[in-house]
Amino acid sequence: MSVRRILLGVTGGVAAYKSAELVRLWIKAGHEVTVVMSEAACRFVTPLTFQALSGRPVYTTLWDDRPQNGMAHIDLSRAADVFVIAPATADCLARLAQGRCDDLITTLAAARTCPLVVAPAMNRQMWENPPNLRNVRQLIEDGVTVFGPGTGSQACGETGPGRMLEPEEIAERLEGFFTPKRLAGKRVLLTAGPTFEPIDAVRGITNTSSGKMGYALARACRDAGAQVTLVSGPTGMPAPVEVSRIDVQTAQDMHHAVLSQVVNADIFIGVAAVADYHVVNKSEQKLKKTGKAPVIELAENPDILATVASLPAAPFCVGFAAESHNLLDFAEAKRRRKNVPLLVANLAQQAMGADANEVTLLDDAGIHPLPVMGKDAVAHAIVRHLASLIETSTIPSERTTE
Ligand code: C5P
Repeated sequence: MSVRRILLGVTGGVAAYKSAELVRLWIKAGHEVTVVMSEAACRFVTPLTFQALSGRPVYTTLWDDRPQNGMAHIDLSRAADVFVIAPATADCLARLAQGRCDDLITTLAAARTCPLVVAPAMNRQMWENPPNLRNVRQLIEDGVTVFGPGTGSQACGETGPGRMLEPEEIAERLEGFFTPKRLAGKRVLLTAGPTFEPIDAVRGITNTSSGKMGYALARACRDAGAQVTLVSGPTGMPAPVEVSRIDVQTAQDMHHAVLSQVVNADIFIGVAAVADYHVVNKSEQKLKKTGKAPVIELAENPDILATVASLPAAPFCVGFAAESHNLLDFAEAKRRRKNVPLLVANLAQQAMGADANEVTLLDDAGIHPLPVMGKDAVAHAIVRHLASLIETSTIPSERTTE
C-alpha cells in the first residue's frame, strides 16, 4: 500500500470526535495526515488532539503565517493526494456547493488540485432537507466523492440517515478510492472462514481460521472494482461494505451456496478452511455423559474448489494451501490436482488467525514469493497478480449472465 498525503478538514459536528480516531487509523496505516479545522470544530475537539495524533501542526485559519509564503489556502491542498472533509456539516456542504471561500476549509477546497471527498454528518431532518440533498447532488456533479452518510441512532436522540460513517469505514473506503479498478465489471465469488460441523446440538468440529484473509480479499476485490459475493463460515466479523455475504455453517452448506452462485461468477477464490469431514451420526440433542466415550463417525466433505474448477464453464479459480511443512512442493501438487491456475501458499502455523501473513503465489509461470505483510496488503498484492493473469489469460474470464 502506498503512503498517501491526506489533508483532513474537520467541521463543527459532534462526529468530530470520530475524526480523531480516523487520524489514528491513517497514521497507523503509514499515511501522512495534515488536519485543518473550522472554528466550530475547535469547540468540539481541540486542535491539540489532532496535532498529537497526526504529529503535525493543525491549521484553523486563513490568516495562519506558518506556511512559508503565507498561502495556507494553496500550499496545504497542493501538497495533498486527497482532501477529505469529515465530518462535513450541512453548512459546509452548502458553501462547497456554492463555491464559497469564506474560511480555510472551503478556500482550500476551491484552490485544490487533488480529489475532494466529503463524509456528511448531520441530523436526519437536515440531511433530508431538499436544499441539502440538492447541494449533495451538485457536489457529486462537480466530481466530489461522498462517503455515506450512514443510518442509525444520532446524537440528537433521533434515528435515521445522517450519521457520519465510522472511522474504519471511511479509512476502508479511501483505500478503495485509490485502488486501480483492474477487476471492474468482474464478479468475484469467495469462500472465507472456518466451517462448523455439528456433533450434537451444542458441540462441533471447527478450526482456528479467523476469516481475516478471506475478508481482506473480499475488500481488495471490491476496491479493484469487482462485484463481490462472500460465502462465509462462522467468523463473528461484520460483512464488508458493499459486499454481499451469505452466511453458512457446514462445508455442505458452503458447497450448496457456492454452487448456487457460481453461474454468476467470473472468478472464484476459495479461502475458507473447509473441514475435510462431517459427522455422520450427529445428535439433534445435546449428548449426555454416559460413562462410555461416544464414537464419532466421519464422512468426507465435498471439495468445493475442485468441484468449481472442474465445471465445464469454470470461472477463473484461485485456491489457498495452508501447510505445516514442505510448503511449496505440497502446494504445487495441490494446484495441479485441483486444476487451479493460481494458488496461494502459506504456512498454517503462521497464517491461521494472525493479522500478518507471508505467502507465495504459484502459477504456470512459476513461484512468486511475497514479503511478510498485513493481510490487507497481502490481499491487494494477490488481486494485482490475479488481475495480471486475467488480463493476459486465454481462459474466458468474462461470462454472460442468462
Ligand atoms: O486440500 P486443502 O484443504 O488443503 O485445499 C485448500 C484449498 O481448497 C483452499 O482453497 C480451500 O478453500 C479449498 N477447499 C475447498 N473445499 C474443501 C477443502 C478445501 O474448497 N472441502
